[in-house]
Amino acid sequence: MFFQLDSDKMSAARLDKKKTLDLRKKHIGPSCKIFFSHDPIKIVQAKGQYMYDETGQRYLDCINNVAHVGHCHSDVVKAGAQQMELLNTNSRFLHDNLVQYAQKLQATLPDKLSVCYFVNSGSEANDLALRLAWQYTGHKDIITLENAYHGHVSSLIDISPYKFHQLSDAERNQFVHVAPSPDVYRGKYRADHPDPATAYADEVKGIIDKAHEKGGKIAAFIAESLQSCGGQVIPPAGYFQQVAEHVRKAGGIFISDEVQVGFGRVGTHFWAFQLQGEDFVPDIVTMGKPIGNGHPMSCVVTTREVAEAFMSSGMEYFNTFGGNPVSCAIGLAVLDVIEKEDLQGNALRVGGYLTSLLEKQKEKHLLIGDIRGCGLFVGVELVRDRLKLTPATAEAQEVIYQLKEEHVLLSADGPHRNVLKFKPPMCFTTEDADLVVEKIDLILTELENALGLKMHSISNVEKESSKRKPPIDENGHQHDDGLVQRKGSGQAAPQQTKQNKRLKS
Ligand SMILES: Cc1ncc(COP(=O)(O)O)c(C=O)c1O
Repeated sequence: MFFQLDSDKMSAARLDKKKTLDLRKKHIGPSCKIFFSHDPIKIVQAKGQYMYDETGQRYLDCINNVAHVGHCHSDVVKAGAQQMELLNTNSRFLHDNLVQYAQKLQATLPDKLSVCYFVNSGSEANDLALRLAWQYTGHKDIITLENAYHGHVSSLIDISPYKFHQLSDAERNQFVHVAPSPDVYRGKYRADHPDPATAYADEVKGIIDKAHEKGGKIAAFIAESLQSCGGQVIPPAGYFQQVAEHVRKAGGIFISDEVQVGFGRVGTHFWAFQLQGEDFVPDIVTMGKPIGNGHPMSCVVTTREVAEAFMSSGMEYFNTFGGNPVSCAIGLAVLDVIEKEDLQGNALRVGGYLTSLLEKQKEKHLLIGDIRGCGLFVGVELVRDRLKLTPATAEAQEVIYQLKEEHVLLSADGPHRNVLKFKPPMCFTTEDADLVVEKIDLILTELENALGLKMHSISNVEKESSKRKPPIDENGHQHDDGLVQRKGSGQAAPQQTKQNKRLKS
């Protein structure tokens, strides 16, 4: 579908696409990757759940959880512009926006989580959360989850196996311990286990015991409330309560990273950690991406006790931009829109509809191994063999590339890059769900015909994907597509990557 672009405002499209690309290559750091590098998209305008390229071509955005209430929502834009006309300054002056935002945000959280620190990115939020944990506990060791990603600053690369699995043992932080991902589909304990929550929590207990034997002391356990980059993993209910019990007994605290999954996305609750049950309250919650609908804003919320301990160090916490009046005006508008447009309810309804459509696809397509999700956070794991769970990595990439050709933006993630990842703006509709699932159906039908009818067709899939550079995920982690050519044959075998080996051991 084409759209008449707003040419007056289209200063973004003043260069032709090739020129933009050339300048990007010349002046932007080469490790800053781009989506669809063989044929990148130049987006110049967006509204709601749609993005438009320089020709006016519309793309359905199924992945942008930053534009939470919809791209360029007019209430949010107005709130930011109006405040920018009046004042923007740091939080050392009294300002109503800061305290009113903190109050409104707190009302969505359990009472105990009452003290806010405002920062500017998810990484800053998690880095500060670690500082709070270290200061409060006086301990050093951090437990993180396999495949986790928590941000790009040094302290967070240290606790992000998604990134640091590329490092040698010597380069890894010895105070960081990795617990198995509580993935009941592909993980160590699966859905057929009588009590996967306890089994995974016991793994954390084992890590704590081992750390103690070596003289370590646990400062914190950190996890996304639902693992996103880690493959849209939904931890079994009760897992966090048991982990928190083990960690707190060891003198540590529990940090929930809600940077991707917070603000009503899961539909039934405002925060994804609440899926674990009313009896679970983390000690720190970190927020980012959706909080400012694209404006760089983020937050750390914690208990009075943790905040007092941080204060007792005597060091002032100052953040030039964190909590400025413009950010807080925008944050307030985002919360208002979520409420006014019942976007949490929409996530529940449309997410449920999307999941039911995908469940029907699972009955039809052998390539679909698992559908999992809550609200508008949904994962579709593609496998070549439903018993062996062989990751269908190349096929997942093919789906993503073909969808892009059909003007639908979706991504694939997880340790094997075989999980199709839905996390669209919360204004996503049932018609949008119909459209994307219809297209996935056609693509999977073609792929399965190719795979099932002629074995040499598998190599066509590979040939197509090998023409392209290895894809990158949204956090710039470049993956292999999981396939290697067997010498002398056109057949593909799953590659024994370092990551694969580690998972199997
Ligand atoms: C779960 C999670 N935490 C933290 C971050 C870091 O956020 P930012 O990129 O805003 O620094 C990300 C970014 O993708 C994330 O996915």
